[in-house]
Amino acid sequence: MKKMGEVYGPVVGTYVGPTQPIISVCGHEAIKEAMLNDDLSGRPELAIMMARTFGEGLGIMFVMGQFWQEQRRFTLRHLRDLGFGKTSIEDQMMGEVGDLIKDIENKSQSDPKKIADFKGIFQVSGINILWAIIAGERFQGHDPKFQELLGANELFFRTGKVFQSIFPIPVFLLKRLRFMRKFIGMKGELMEPIQKFIKKTIEDHRHRNMSDDEACDFIDVYLKEMNKQKAENPSTNFTEKQLISTIIDLFGAGAESTSGSIGFALIHLIRDQEVQQKMQMELDQISGEFFPTLNHRSSLPYTEAVLMEAQRCSSIAPLTVPHYAVKDTKLQGYAIPKGSLLSLNLYAVFQDSKYWKDPEVFRPERHLNDDGTKVIKSEHFNPFGIAALIKKFRFEPVPNEPLPSLDPTNGFTLGYQGFKAVVTPRP
Ligand code: HEM
Repeated sequence: MKKMGEVYGPVVGTYVGPTQPIISVCGHEAIKEAMLNDDLSGRPELAIMMARTFGEGLGIMFVMGQFWQEQRRFTLRHLRDLGFGKTSIEDQMMGEVGDLIKDIENKSQSDPKKIADFKGIFQVSGINILWAIIAGERFQGHDPKFQELLGANELFFRTGKVFQSIFPIPVFLLKRLRFMRKFIGMKGELMEPIQKFIKKTIEDHRHRNMSDDEACDFIDVYLKEMNKQKAENPSTNFTEKQLISTIIDLFGAGAESTSGSIGFALIHLIRDQEVQQKMQMELDQISGEFFPTLNHRSSLPYTEAVLMEAQRCSSIAPLTVPHYAVKDTKLQGYAIPKGSLLSLNLYAVFQDSKYWKDPEVFRPERHLNDDGTKVIKSEHFNPFGIAALIKKFRFEPVPNEPLPSLDPTNGFTLGYQGFKAVVTPRP
């Protein structure tokens, strides 16, 4: 897609089969315009995604129109009210970071060469923060049930084929032809244990019989709204299946994106020891003997620039989530027919030499002003803090072994390959 963009410009239309237009959007301006155009904010009905949500268009990530607006608005508003993205959940986040640090410490201490294996360890903290808001409880990292759910979620994301899955294959063909399912990496059955687990959690909430003002997590709030709406309108969109599907979307998007971002950032820091030391110096200077908190953020420009640069070099959602034209419309002056599927190529923007000098080089300074005191904000980056880990440990490559690879594992999002590192606590 990036190569086609270089030859034909930022908006390139192709057909898959005789009737399905697929538009590849590569340039920064074109992507911005597409994201701001409501007519392009639909989502395609992909069988592979519907397999997660009872074969129906449910949840918030693969729905559109009024249904999407209503459910997304409700979800966002209440996640925020319950603390998501706010300093009010910082204590809990720090608790999770503390457990993660203990986990890494144990791994490194139990190995004579201080080598720790990082496979699958970051999802636990990300999901626990989210799960506390959704269901009011936290998992123990080693809980086998939790490990099973995370494993199934990861496998679903990793075995899915991001490009093949946008082929317009009719659902009845997918049901009959195994090789078609294999072609697009459809493993809907992986979601069954997750669906069952969420359903059981909802049942437990129902039996708690709490009064209205005791509603303290997202499931409570949603059930309350569902009962209210059902009394007024039996065909309401607030249903138990929709609640399960929304949680599946949050669980999937939340676990994979955060663990992928942290994993890649750490691999970059292991490969570039100089950057790791510079980041540690800044953290020592600013937060002293304590872990950094959100209050320190504006005084940690280098640390923030490292996280932004890791996101730029190893974007975990390189093509975003596919968009869909709900009406005939225009993009950069080109006609986009209703029903087109759009792939917005963030990766091409992050690697575009028009915006970034030597785009393939990992260089946090590019996100800073000349004297390195301020981050130059870019609307595309959504960095996720791993600062406490870097403050606590020094991460080094395993001697006589190749450096951890930055080659991603494919899927709906990009994941990092499992890696190992020598971990030594810092004084
Ligand atoms: C570093 C972390 C993350 C990155 C890089 C990331 C990236 C993205 C991208 C590129 C999209 C598609 C936007 C579009 O189609 O225009 C998206 C959508 C979405 N993400 Fe994330 N995300 C991250 C973290 C999270 C977390 C923690 C959650 C869950 C709490 C989450 C939930 C969602 C949802 C629900 C959508 C669909 C929104 C909609 O269709 O209205 N993401 N994300």
